[in-house]
Amino acid sequence: MNPGACLGRTIAACAGLLAGAVGRGAVEGPPALRELAATRGLRVGTAVKAAALDEAVYRDTLLRNFAIVTPENELKMKPVRPARDRFEFAAADRIVDFAQQHGLRVRGHTLCWAADDHQPAWLLQQAATPAVAQDLLREHIFTVMQRYHGRVRDWDVVNESIANSNQPGASPYVDGYWLRALGEDYIALAFRLAREADPAARLFYNDYDHGRALGPKSDRIFALLQRLKAAGVPLDGVGLQLHCSIKDPPKRAELVANFRRLADLGLVVQVTELDVETMTGSGTPEERLAQQAQVYRDVFAAALEAKIEAVVTWGFTDKFRHTALLRRKNLPPELDTPMWLFDAAYDPKPAFDAVTHLLREPAP
Ligand code: G3I
Repeated sequence: MNPGACLGRTIAACAGLLAGAVGRGAVEGPPALRELAATRGLRVGTAVKAAALDEAVYRDTLLRNFAIVTPENELKMKPVRPARDRFEFAAADRIVDFAQQHGLRVRGHTLCWAADDHQPAWLLQQAATPAVAQDLLREHIFTVMQRYHGRVRDWDVVNESIANSNQPGASPYVDGYWLRALGEDYIALAFRLAREADPAARLFYNDYDHGRALGPKSDRIFALLQRLKAAGVPLDGVGLQLHCSIKDPPKRAELVANFRRLADLGLVVQVTELDVETMTGSGTPEERLAQQAQVYRDVFAAALEAKIEAVVTWGFTDKFRHTALLRRKNLPPELDTPMWLFDAAYDPKPAFDAVTHLLREPAP
């Protein structure tokens, strides 16, 4: 960067801070996360909430640091299709329009989610027969994908189909309406319908393994993707969610190994929902933030080493608490959930500093 620009940024940063602008994440200052990541060939993104776009510092921090956005909930079947014959796109349109206005890429999340918990109530009342389910799946995928043709490039076509349990003899798949109606072939069908609906889109399978990199569930996800590719199913990429914890963090070498074996299937690999919870585990608040910083650094370091395409975090400011996670972990509902790169005032946290420090290091 030339000295003039650097001086300009410094003055702007001081002005911003003097003016009491909340959150250094939003004001001019050292190169932003997305710029630093781009110098290392990595795209960074985050999940966004349509309602939060009303807040200037949310928008500014988002635009300064991220190049990809994923609607956190606004494109899921439950909110998009509250009734069989009714689609609600206003919230999703808000995010997609904002992204298009600012040149951000959009990840569409998600067209077909396996578990019944995530289906609109009316779907579970439909006959679970191949004919009914195929028509419903086709209608949903075509209606949603064709609305955003050319504006949503990557789609999580199928989300979380692989079961957590690995009891001998148990089904490897999550039970749900689509599996009951169509068997495991609903997965391949969803991808085939998606390719037909929007041939220009890239089609992803998205799943998690409890924040771990390798293990029985990751192996079952890998095996599913191997089967789909071998069967010629139109599958372009894999989204690894990586909802991590300081209590049981993923190992960098295992992350690299899993990224590489998936890439060897010919898949685009993206980390799609990175966050690092600090509520379990041990240590003082400062120690927990330091542990969190190390986990973020390890994931980004593995992404750089394996040369994957993108890392998308599942949010970026601690201002918004992850109430669904507190419920899932039976934690007190009033507990803070400092899981992301910026604190509740949009100031960078140790995790942000650890990641940007890594990205400033010369490529090996
Ligand atoms: O919008 C309704 C609101 O109208 C209603 O009053 C309120 C109370 O019922 O619910 C609101 O919807 C909630 C929605 O988040 C928006 O806030 C749902 O109940 C709630 O279940 C939903 O939780 C989301 C969850 O997925 C289930 O869809 C979380 O915010 C979201 O972070 C989480 O994200 C998932 C990914 O999609 C898939 N991977 C795991 C990840 C974390 O669980």
